[in-house]
Amino acid sequence: MDLTRLGFLALLYFCAQAASPPNFVVIFADDLGFGDLGCYGHPSSLSPNLDRLAAGGLRFTNFYSTSPICSPSRASLLTGRYQTRSGIYPGVLYPGSIGGLPLNETTIAEVLKPLGYATAAVGKWHLGVGPNGTFLPTRQGFDQYLGIPYSHDMGPCHNLTCFPPDVKCFGLCDPGTVLVPLMRDEDIKEQPVNFLDLERAYADFAAAFVASAAERKRPFFLYYPSHHTHYPQYAGPGAAGKTSRGPFGDSLLEFDDTVGKLLATLEESGVINHTLVFFTADNGPSLMRMSRGGSAGPLRCGKGTTYEGGTREPAIAFWPGTITPGVTHELASTLDILPTIARLAGARAPPVALDGFDMTDILTSRGKSQREAVMFYPSDPSEALGLFALRLGKYKAHFYTRGSTHSSTTPDKECSALSALTAHDPPLLFDLEADPSERYPLVPGGQTDVPALLQRIKKVKERFEASMSFGESQNGKGSDPRLEPCCAPQCSPKPHCCRC
Ligand SMILES: *[C@@H]1O[C@H](CO)[C@@H](O)[C@H](O)[C@H]1NC(C)=O
Ligand SMILES: *[C@@H]1O[C@H](CO)[C@@H](O)[C@H](O)[C@H]1NC(C)=O
Ligand SMILES: *[C@@H]1O[C@H](CO)[C@@H](O)[C@H](O)[C@H]1NC(C)=O
Repeated sequence: MDLTRLGFLALLYFCAQAASPPNFVVIFADDLGFGDLGCYGHPSSLSPNLDRLAAGGLRFTNFYSTSPICSPSRASLLTGRYQTRSGIYPGVLYPGSIGGLPLNETTIAEVLKPLGYATAAVGKWHLGVGPNGTFLPTRQGFDQYLGIPYSHDMGPCHNLTCFPPDVKCFGLCDPGTVLVPLMRDEDIKEQPVNFLDLERAYADFAAAFVASAAERKRPFFLYYPSHHTHYPQYAGPGAAGKTSRGPFGDSLLEFDDTVGKLLATLEESGVINHTLVFFTADNGPSLMRMSRGGSAGPLRCGKGTTYEGGTREPAIAFWPGTITPGVTHELASTLDILPTIARLAGARAPPVALDGFDMTDILTSRGKSQREAVMFYPSDPSEALGLFALRLGKYKAHFYTRGSTHSSTTPDKECSALSALTAHDPPLLFDLEADPSERYPLVPGGQTDVPALLQRIKKVKERFEASMSFGESQNGKGSDPRLEPCCAPQCSPKPHCCRC
């Protein structure tokens, strides 16, 4: 047993004495690529607070989300299960979606509640609203919620396009649905939401929540998924025009500023050394937005694809005094966050098929990952096609490839929506350590014993697919315009009269 581990056990002992398990803050960026942060090498991004987390915490280089699009990725993070199990497929949920994350799924908040944790979600939910708010965070273990219930382009973008010339929004969003609401718990607080003030509202809400829990000496879990840096990229007056990178850089800076305020609150409340802060993002960059979209850095393609740029993400674990600063190349996933939090809190893991592994050893003693493989499902997974790709150790096999609208306009034709579904038999094989950009397929006769490797990969794939039972598709239940959140339910004509 090494010293870090001993230190950690001592800390656990101390925590047990103090009868107070650690606090957890999970920060989730939106459509942010592997190459978008200063601490991941971007030359013109300004992300001083995330960079500070990275400098004082553990930075991952092989960390994955489970889907190249929003809703499924969020479902996996909160449940520790692939989206295929919970039914959050195909595609994403819409303002009028009939389905949502099934209530019998157990979220991280629900894992922690029996231990007396205070829980709150602040930000973009995107796991359903449903009839009478059936699927809102308050029905999934969160005591409190402040935020927009889905993406901010799922509405007419009204108060963005109208703002003075120095705070521009780009594009038309979705003019056919209700104005995007700001929800407090299950009620509409503003419709339309004031986007330009939204991050300030989030920072204030988070500060009040943390301070109140700390004061009452209650352990807490805060989930903060921002709408930044999703399309349409913009920032409020505090960050607009403040970076040399333009709209994407400004939206990242505004998000980063909220992270900074959150860290300051943790410090002022005296709980910074008793809190695990975990940062990552839901999926890769929306390359179709060109220079206003994000960057996957050296990785191939971006959002919507099962190439590395679709799901390999920046990830940082920060816990002063417990996590030694550094970089880890261990394999890990958003699926692993729930089991890790459960272990650290001393909570019982939900009695369901979990796809995640406890990362505690990676975090506290730079141990090895228990995870040997990462599975890649497309945005519209099906039992008929199964996995599109599988990473085993440093190797990745693609059984199917397909481009995506979200990654169109790149010079690499494989990323574009014009690149149709292609089956690969034998699979397209890459060594992701030698070739993280997936440029040079391995061929038989080289250094790697390709046939033996393919045999191993095939076995892992078969075992995994035999264990996968697809839940009923929630997204496939369709939409009903009457379910779109409306602050004046009886008004007419809809959707535009929903404004209060
Ligand atoms: C939730 O309920 C559905 C429908 O009854 C069922 O198919 C599914 O297996 C349940 N999921 C869990 C995690 O219990
Ligand atoms: C929502 O709640 C209201 C009031 O409780 C009720 O009248 C209505 O039927 C509910 N709507 C649905 C779709 O369940
Ligand atoms: C947190 O721990 C560091 C040492 O790791 C110490 O310098 C700092 O004062 C502690 N902060 C609080 C608020 O306890």
